[in-house]
Parts: sequence; C-alpha cells; structure tokens
Amino acid sequence: MKLSIFGIGYVGLVQAAIFADVGYDVLCVDIDDKKVNDLKNGIIPIYEPGLALIVKENYSAGRLNFTTNAEEAVSHAEIQFIAVGTPPDENGSADLQYVLSVAETIANHMNDSKIIIDKSTVPVGTADLVYEKVSTVLEKRGVDYSFEVVSNPEFLKEGAAVEDSKRPERIIIGTGSKKIEKKMRELYAPFNRNRDRMIFMDVRSAELTKYAANCMLATKISFMNEMANIAEKLGADIENVRKGIGSDSRIGYHFIYPGCGYGGSCFPKDVQALIRTASGSECDSHILNAVEHVNFLQKEKLFQKIKAHYNNDIKGKTFAVWGLSFKPNTDDMRDAPSRILMQALWDAGAKVQAFDPESMIECQRIYKQRDDLRLMGTKEEALKTADALVICTEWNQFRAPDFQLIGSLISDEVIFDGRNMYDSEIANQYGLKYYSMGRQTI
Ligand SMILES: NC(=O)c1ccc[n+]([C@@H]2O[C@H](COP(=O)([O-])OP(=O)(O)OC[C@H]3O[C@@H](n4cnc5c(N)ncnc54)[C@H](O)[C@@H]3O)[C@@H](O)[C@H]2O)c1
Repeated sequence: MKLSIFGIGYVGLVQAAIFADVGYDVLCVDIDDKKVNDLKNGIIPIYEPGLALIVKENYSAGRLNFTTNAEEAVSHAEIQFIAVGTPPDENGSADLQYVLSVAETIANHMNDSKIIIDKSTVPVGTADLVYEKVSTVLEKRGVDYSFEVVSNPEFLKEGAAVEDSKRPERIIIGTGSKKIEKKMRELYAPFNRNRDRMIFMDVRSAELTKYAANCMLATKISFMNEMANIAEKLGADIENVRKGIGSDSRIGYHFIYPGCGYGGSCFPKDVQALIRTASGSECDSHILNAVEHVNFLQKEKLFQKIKAHYNNDIKGKTFAVWGLSFKPNTDDMRDAPSRILMQALWDAGAKVQAFDPESMIECQRIYKQRDDLRLMGTKEEALKTADALVICTEWNQFRAPDFQLIGSLISDEVIFDGRNMYDSEIANQYGLKYYSMGRQTI
C-alpha cells in the first residue's frame, strides 16, 4: 500500500515510520526544507524513544521517503494523510489554515481519486470544510475526481509515541462510507491483529472524540491539582490521597498526579479550542473553563512558593532548573510549565541554570543567548553556584539524586519540586528544605 503524509511533526513522522515499518511505501511531505533535508541526512528533528532507528532503517530500505514536493506526494498515493499543526489562533480556536492549505494543495494536484484522511486534531465540522475546499478547487480546475474525507484522530502520547502507534489502544475512524470502512480496515490490519481496535462512527463524532479524550485527561489533572491545593491548606498529604482514590477501580491511578500544571502541544490548545467550539454553538462549557483556569493558576504555584520562601526578594538569586520539557521522554517545550517558571524568575531578577536530558537544543532555539540563562551539560553542573533547585519535569534520572551532593552544591539548601518526586523526610534528613505540591513542607 502506498501512503502520502502531509506534515512531518510528532504525529506525521511517527505514523509514517510505523507504517513504513510494516511494509507500506510512505512519502512524507513538509514545507520545512531544513526538516526534509535533515531527515534525508539521518538527522531526526524530534526526540521520541525508538524513533530514530525506525526512521533510519526504513529510509535506508526505501520504504520511507521525504520531500518538499507536494505534487509528487499527491500523485504518490490514493491515501493522503493530513498531519499538520492546528495551533490556537488569537482567540483560542484551532487555526485551520495549515489543514485547509493542504486540502487545497491536494485538490490542485490530484489527477485521480483520493482518500483524504485527517489525522490532525480539528474541530467538529472541519471534514466538511476540507470537502468544500477540495470541491471548490476541483470545480475551478474544471475536473471531477472522486474523493472522500475521513476523520482519523491520533491518540499517541509524546514520549511513548512509537509504542502507542505500534499498538494503539483504539483506532477511531469517522466515515459514512462502507467502502472507506473496508479500506481503513485494510490500512490498519497490521495494527489490529490480536483484537479489533477499530471503532467506526460518523465524522463529527470522530472529530469530537479526540477533543473529549484530551479534555477528560486535562480535567483529571486540574481536578487533582485543585485537590493538592486543598490538601496543602488542610494539613493533608495529596500523595496519600492519590493512592487512596487511585485504588478505586472507577477512578484508577492514571492522570491523577498533582504537579505544576499540564502543558505540551495538545491539552492547553485542545481545551481552549473545545471551549471556543462549544461557545460558538451557544453551549457554555463550565467545566472546561474551570479546567483551564485551574491550570493557569497551577503553573504559577511553584514560583509563588519560591517567592514566599525568599520573602518576595529573589533578585540576584540563581536557580538550578531540572527538567524543561512539558513531560519526560520528549524534547517538546510547547506550553511547558518550565517556561512560565523561568519567565517569572527572570522577571523578578533571578538567573537560571537549566538542565534537561533532551530539550537543551529546543531551549536554546526558543531563548537564544541571554545573560540570565545558562544551559548546563548535566544535572550536577546545573547545581554548581546555584542557590536553590527547582524541578519542573519528572525525568527518570532525577528520581534518585544524591541529596548530599545537592546540599553541598546549592547554597540555600532548598528544593522546590513541582512533581513530588521525593519523600519529604528523606530530603529533610540531608538538611534540605523541601517544598512540593499538595504536601506539608518540612
Ligand atoms: N504532538 C502530539 O502529541 C499529538 C498527539 C495527537 C494529535 N496531535 C495533533 O496532530 C497535529 C500535528 O501535531 P504535531 O505535534 O505533529 O505538529 P508539529 O508542529 O510537530 O508538526 C506539524 C508539521 O506540519 C508541517 N506543515 C505545516 N503546513 C504544511 C503544509 N502545508 N504541507 C506540509 N507540511 C506542513 C510543519 O512544517 C510541521 O513540520 C495537530 O493537530 C495536533 O493537535 C498531536
């Protein structure tokens, strides 16, 4: 089977690699020359565990190719995936310019029938817009090729994207056509072997399923962060509460970790976009507005703890920041809590010495050269000459640190942990003051 994929980002590249790996002939197209050239030279633009090897192997085998030539991509295959970004526009709605531009490109170059599969996260009704766009262009061209628009939202998790794509929990397909259903079964057959993971539905429900899933997960996080704030005030320990409620199978342990707020390229924008879509349909989303507001406040919590500890004066202080990505196992810093924290520290006149196992290049790209940011080669180097340690991301390599070393390197002997990685008493045994989220500070 031949496939073309528009957009070589976290979703497009991972999906392309996984499809190529089962034997499909996949051509990826992007407007970013550098990305395409880098990939052809074996440079993988993002960090995802296991991705580099699969990309390189399949590129060498000729099953996975990269181009900036959209015409070539359109003629390459009947199946055309759209996996471009849908960032928020100025009012928080999903900006569909990239999706619609791909639709236009496909329509401009198609010379036979196509199945256009939307993998980007898009508001309900987008498949109709894509359909209209393609029809209009075909009409202008004076040609009449048949095409279908299918919704196939993506559920991979950054940091586990390869595994998620190899073994998806579910494959949602929005289509009203039995013929397309059959084709989609054929496309996903290699990923659907040990049980049927495919769920077929109408296009609008498929589009909404993606938003509902992300909004539910964001709701769990904001709920737990609110509980953490309550626990802290009431003298309770949110980690005990988490274990207590997680053991209820109706609640479960997933996504109930308190922290310094959710970030990344999906939850913040998808919550906002669904709020806008709902309000555009005269339907207020009271819960989602609260979820977003709680998250906004939560991202400031760590800084408030720092300010309170230093009686509002951190001018001239240097903070070691461990973890920059919005979660472990990715280099993605989009909407990461670390960015809010670092900005607040800088605004208050403090300096940052940062370390992240994978996001250093991304951090450099975002912040360029500045006097109040030093990017350090190891987590220990970040501590040297710092006054305090702040943790924003729960990377594995931060789990069991040498507390004695921390105490000897940071002059104020204080840790602000936005991810509750440590046992308060252990940190305390080493003479470190330890602030965390939703627990008592000792
Ligand atoms: N990142 C995730 O974890 C994730 C998970 C599920 C769904 N999604 C959704 O998938 C979509 C893509 O997300 P992403 O994180 O992969 O985005 P991304 O920003 O990493 O990549 C998007 C790519 O599309 C390219 N592009 C833009 N316009 C183009 C065009 N006209 N032709 C070809 N390429 C073009 C960009 O250059 C970029 O390389 C979004 O809608 C997102 O919400 C993302």
